[in-house]
Amino acid sequence: MSVFSKAVIALTEAGPVEKTITGTRPGRALAHRFVAGDTLDDAVSVARKLNDDGLVVSLDFLGEEVSDRTSAVEARDEYLEGLERIGSEGLQANISVKLSQLGLAIDEGLAIELLDSLAEAAHRVSTTVTIDMEDSRFTDATVRIYEKTQTHHGNLGLALQAYLHRTPDDLKRLMPLGGHLRLCKGAYVEEPDVALTSKTAVDQAYAGQLRTLMADEEVRPAVATHDLELVDLARELARDREQPFEFQMLYGVRSSLQRQLVADGFTMRVYLPFGSQWYPYLTRRLAERPSNAWFFVRSVFGS
Ligand code: FDA
Repeated sequence: MSVFSKAVIALTEAGPVEKTITGTRPGRALAHRFVAGDTLDDAVSVARKLNDDGLVVSLDFLGEEVSDRTSAVEARDEYLEGLERIGSEGLQANISVKLSQLGLAIDEGLAIELLDSLAEAAHRVSTTVTIDMEDSRFTDATVRIYEKTQTHHGNLGLALQAYLHRTPDDLKRLMPLGGHLRLCKGAYVEEPDVALTSKTAVDQAYAGQLRTLMADEEVRPAVATHDLELVDLARELARDREQPFEFQMLYGVRSSLQRQLVADGFTMRVYLPFGSQWYPYLTRRLAERPSNAWFFVRSVFGS
């Protein structure tokens, strides 16, 4: 992660900055570039439009690191409702969940129980559940829970972060489970003993791991990046691949590339967040792209 990104994350963690972003019109407008809206209805209506344009969707109910059981159960219930809507409205969609939103930080057993109920509900509407990967405090438990739940239910997937030193080993360990593995670069601030820190090194690691994933016909790779060189590499590797794979990108990022890939015959899944807890998600998007942060600063202070 660059010095700029770390500075943005540090700045946005300051209380007054959070207040300015969440409490002003430009802040909320910026959030709406990346978030479908506050409610499930908002998300369903955006998902329907994306489906009409040939894109599939992953619904993400925003929220992370809950500190009590009630909030974890409420998050699970929102996802259950989302799955019901996927079924009743025939949406081409799955869900993406964070285990810390299902209580991982307070009780691992609770997170497993709630994830189990989501996997069962997803089965009923013939869809899947992808587990997002959070910061490295949660990696061990997340990989362990994925292994267990995927072995039992068979309809799960997991995000893996190319910047982590451990990811090549995790890939070897998890590919035989045959789920869908979403390869992303990694969005959190990590120490050098845990993760690669230079962009060049992360990009190289991503390319190597992408080659490994795309060569495995048992697993369904999800190529989650907006990086043109890596998208091109995936297209090249796809020529030798027989089994399906998909591209994944974030809602509001490189929308024309998303549509171009659909026009070229690829499956494109848009990661579609909704809910009122959008602040941590937005700060990660600001940190990824200097122009997003400048856009916001100019809107608030004028120029
Ligand atoms: P990179 O950051 O190098 O960007 C390449 C280009 O894409 C940029 O030059 C810019 O043009 C465009 N771009 C990228 N981000 C942008 C932004 N925010 N706004 C505008 N333009 C932007 N991370 C994680 O740690 N755990 C997870 O579970 C997930 N899940 C996930 C799902 C999906 C579908 C995607 C696409 C990404 C994630 N991520 C994630 C985030 C991921 O780790 C990474 O931080 C971002 O995707 C940015 O990295 P890129 O691969 O796009 O490359």
